[in-house]
Amino acid sequence: MAIEWARLRAAAGEAARHGYAPYSRLLVGAAALTADGRLLTACNVENASYGLTLCAECGLVSMLHAGGGGRLEAVSIVAGDGEPLLPCGRCRQLLMEAGGPSLLVETATGTARLADLLPAAFTGDDLEERREPPT
Ligand code: THU
Repeated sequence: MAIEWARLRAAAGEAARHGYAPYSRLLVGAAALTADGRLLTACNVENASYGLTLCAECGLVSMLHAGGGGRLEAVSIVAGDGEPLLPCGRCRQLLMEAGGPSLLVETATGTARLADLLPAAFTGDDLEERREPPT
């Protein structure tokens, strides 16, 4: 499936306009295409208790599950200027669970695989292999 990056970026930009970022004043929007063709969008939501801030990608992953689950295939994350913003470390981890290493991420210099943005990721496989046996 060919990814319509311009459409995805425009949707992320529209979502960024709805961001709630009175503290950092960095508006962020995220838009993703799911493997079954859904378009999801979300924005960042800050809080007076700064540490409770929700990145746009948090909302995106919630939308994925609220809409029936599945897998993310491509994602565009932009700031209020409409230009790509690299996901923070925590959100790279969230995206790994939702899209896997082959998730395509738009960057300012082109498309990257999530595996290149988060190499040697910790995943559910590590849990399976390393958890203690039941007592
Ligand atoms: N932010 C995101 O929404 N996603 C990221 O991947 C990076 C950071 C938001 C959180 C906060 O509202 C603002 O950007 C500044 O950190």
